Amino acid sequence: MNESLRFGIIGAGLMGVEHIQNIALLEDASVAAIADPHPPSQERALAAAGGELQVYDDYAPLLADESINAVIIATPNHTHAAVLRDVFETDKHILCEKPLCTTLDDCAWVVAEAARRSQVFWVAMEYRYSPPVARFVREVQAGTAGRLRMLSIREHRFPFLKKVGDWNRFNRNSGGTLVEKSCHHFDLMRHVVGAEPLRVFATGGADVNHLDEEYDGEQPDIIDNALVVVDFENGVRAVHDLCMFAEGSRHMQELAATGDTGKVECLMPPGQVVLGRRIPRAVETIDVAVPDDVLAAGYHHGATYYELRDFQRAAVEGAPVAVTAEDGMKAVAMGVAAQISIAEQRVVLMSELGL
Ligand SMILES: NC(=O)c1ccc[n+]([C@@H]2O[C@H](COP(=O)([O-])OP(=O)(O)OC[C@H]3O[C@@H](n4cnc5c(N)ncnc54)[C@H](O)[C@@H]3O)[C@@H](O)[C@H]2O)c1
Repeated sequence: MNESLRFGIIGAGLMGVEHIQNIALLEDASVAAIADPHPPSQERALAAAGGELQVYDDYAPLLADESINAVIIATPNHTHAAVLRDVFETDKHILCEKPLCTTLDDCAWVVAEAARRSQVFWVAMEYRYSPPVARFVREVQAGTAGRLRMLSIREHRFPFLKKVGDWNRFNRNSGGTLVEKSCHHFDLMRHVVGAEPLRVFATGGADVNHLDEEYDGEQPDIIDNALVVVDFENGVRAVHDLCMFAEGSRHMQELAATGDTGKVECLMPPGQVVLGRRIPRAVETIDVAVPDDVLAAGYHHGATYYELRDFQRAAVEGAPVAVTAEDGMKAVAMGVAAQISIAEQRVVLMSELGL
């Protein structure tokens, strides 16, 4: 590397702090400043950075600092579009947290703007970066299961955490659970399947969580469980099974790709990849290692570190962008299609959304 990356982080809540902790593990990169109006977030960010950080309430001075050459946007989902309008006025490289935006119109604007600009623009869809998931993807793409026919992505976990200002309790802020949470899984589906989705059917509801919560007299309107079936243009069938009242699960995520000759699974945690063959029948379990300091630097089984490392390579060395604005928009679109499918109890064609 012949040029260092100096980050400014806009939004220093849970995810902003995870970025600070992971950037500390990168070579030749540092966080110069954060911008966040919420004093407790500022304090946590300062503590994570060991006190060496310029702290702003507003992001204008951060953007005006010419020594900062990369910006991470980790503000609530519904603010991404407005923040991006200002960040795109600079030439700083941009890593924007998922989901890209909460509406497809805003996503389309970002796609057009990113194409017009010369800086690196990357959407932080990081699940593909966790080492066990990356190994799973490599095995499927190498043909370990034969010709891929079915893909299943299950996330069974704890309810949504509390956020600053409780923004994640309402669809208008988050985009809805299948945009907010499941854009990760829809991105992973497109990545693994290597084709575009044709149609989506989903069923889901708000059955257990947040039912007795109230914010300024308003009840949360987000769903807490769903099943989403997706047909891909290459004939692969995929299903996403999301349950957010499943603390009793053995694994938080279970991925299964089945082809004509075998099956590849990924179990998280502990971070195992299982390679299965049909004839003669054989099953091999591989423990995929993640360095302890990388594991300890966040909640995403190492994904944030490896995503940031590749973002750095794109920004500094001109390596390709792995998750483009268009990828970000397509993941949001699959979530939007699933939300419409639940609301209208019907199959939604991706072409209805102009994709
Ligand atoms: N990659 C992942 O797996 C992952 C995980 C969690 C969150 N996220 C994403 O990261 C983003 C932030 O989520 P979070 O969990 O950190 O939320 P959070 O509520 O913990 O933090 C958001 C922070 O943004 C600040 N903020 C709000 N408006 C701002 C503005 N205009 N300028 C500067 N700061 C502002 C808030 O004060 C708060 O401190 C969301 O888009 C979320 O979807 C991604």
